[in-house]
Amino acid sequence: MGSNGQKRALITGITGQDGSYLCELLLEKGYEVHGVVRRSSSENFERINSFKDRINLVQGDLTDQGSMIEAVSQTKPHEVYNLAAQSFVPTSWNQPILTGQVTALGVTKLLEAVRLVDKSIRFYQASSSEMFGHVRETPQRETTPFYPRSPYGVAKVYGHWITVNYRESYDMFACSGILFNHESPRRGLEFVTRKVTNAVARIKCGLQDELRLGNLEAKRDWGFAGDYVRAMWLMLQHDKPSDYVVSTDETHSVRELVEIAFEHAGLDWHDHVVEDPKFFRPAEVHLLLGDSSRARADLGWEPQVTFRGLVEMMVDADLARVKAELANQPV
Ligand code: NAP
Ligand code: GDD
Repeated sequence: MGSNGQKRALITGITGQDGSYLCELLLEKGYEVHGVVRRSSSENFERINSFKDRINLVQGDLTDQGSMIEAVSQTKPHEVYNLAAQSFVPTSWNQPILTGQVTALGVTKLLEAVRLVDKSIRFYQASSSEMFGHVRETPQRETTPFYPRSPYGVAKVYGHWITVNYRESYDMFACSGILFNHESPRRGLEFVTRKVTNAVARIKCGLQDELRLGNLEAKRDWGFAGDYVRAMWLMLQHDKPSDYVVSTDETHSVRELVEIAFEHAGLDWHDHVVEDPKFFRPAEVHLLLGDSSRARADLGWEPQVTFRGLVEMMVDADLARVKAELANQPV
């Protein structure tokens, strides 16, 4: 605790979907929030713009050890949340080396920074249900063996085990949250939920007619990102560091997602959706379904938003945004 009792947190990936929700949650809780951002030729702060003046941004890259040590030693956090990653699964086949450098080895770089600067800092690693991949049992829980199906999944398995290893080797308070898919109106446009809800809004407004998708039969356990960042925070407030599955414990297909999204906008998806092999993956994760009973029992966590509620929230947000953009267009 700082002399005034204020906690400090450092978030990597603060410009991403989860980083922005976690930042808002920590600000609400009275934290001093610091975020690591990558230098780029143009700013990428859309998700944090509305509260950027209440946080401190430090430049750094997860692949650069020195900048991670500098970020941790400058900001002196009580809690570090490692949310930065190359997080899009298809890109991981196209850029497997980069994915390994950021999503796998980057975790060690940040853990090393924490270990060298102050071992008592609490550490959260953003692990993923993609680690279960070709699932060994259903539902998937903390003890389910991993069988990753993409370079991204393989990199996350490394990040997961190195976090466990630093906890066991150095007695560090390091936790790994095995989070199932979570979405929101701030989700990147290439992920399937947002790709669908953005297309629904554009079709409804007459800006496009067709939506090309890959495998409609894939099933995911989809929740709301705002609920999931609460679980991250709860893990670091617990008296013992551990690893937790975080999920809704329900699974739905891409087809169901499409049905609900189009129906909510008064559209028939059969008129617009085309299955395109271009979006099939070299190796697919067919089914994810979590069992989050441990997180619910130990952390008192549970999700507030249902699958239908999530899809409708995203369609409504995209419709409002597209309509506002159209209204502001010069005639
Ligand atoms: P996201 O929206 O793709 O955000 C990724 C963040 O990582 C961005 O802020 C990005 O910065 C940053 N980043 C990428 N490479 C970096 C590097 N080399 N150095 C520093 N920062 C870098 O991802 P998300 O959905 O918020 O997910 C957050 C974390 O949870 C990720 O680790 C993801 O793999 C993991 N996860 C996500 C889900 C999910 O369903 N969302 C589920 C399980 C696990 P730029 O803005 O500069 O690109
Ligand atoms: N992206 C995308 N685009 N996915 C499609 C499409 C499409 O056009 N059509 C079908 N899908 C299917 C994919 O094949 C996959 O089975 C499913 O929709 C979900 O794909 P994504 O939304 O891209 O997410 P993901 O499950 O691959 O990965 C996300 O969740 C992981 C947690 O399980 C990412 O957020 C990862 O970073 C995260 O770890």
